[in-house]
Amino acid sequence: MYVCMCYGITDKAIRSAVEEGGVGNMRELRQQLDVGSQCGKCIQMAQQIIDTTIIDETLFRDVG
Ligand code: FES
Repeated sequence: MYVCMCYGITDKAIRSAVEEGGVGNMRELRQQLDVGSQCGKCIQMAQQIIDTTIIDETLFRDVG
């Protein structure tokens, strides 16, 4: 699924930036991907994906 139409960035790309790139917020995400630098419509969605990915990771760590 595309989150950012302007740059063609998918939810998968954002998730892997969080999981592998250590991204924890929008500012860090923008340093790695161009998400949100054009029209800004995707920012809320991208932020949400960052948050849920971090929560998922935390839960996974607790279980493992
Ligand atoms: S959809 Fe992401 S900047 Fe436009």
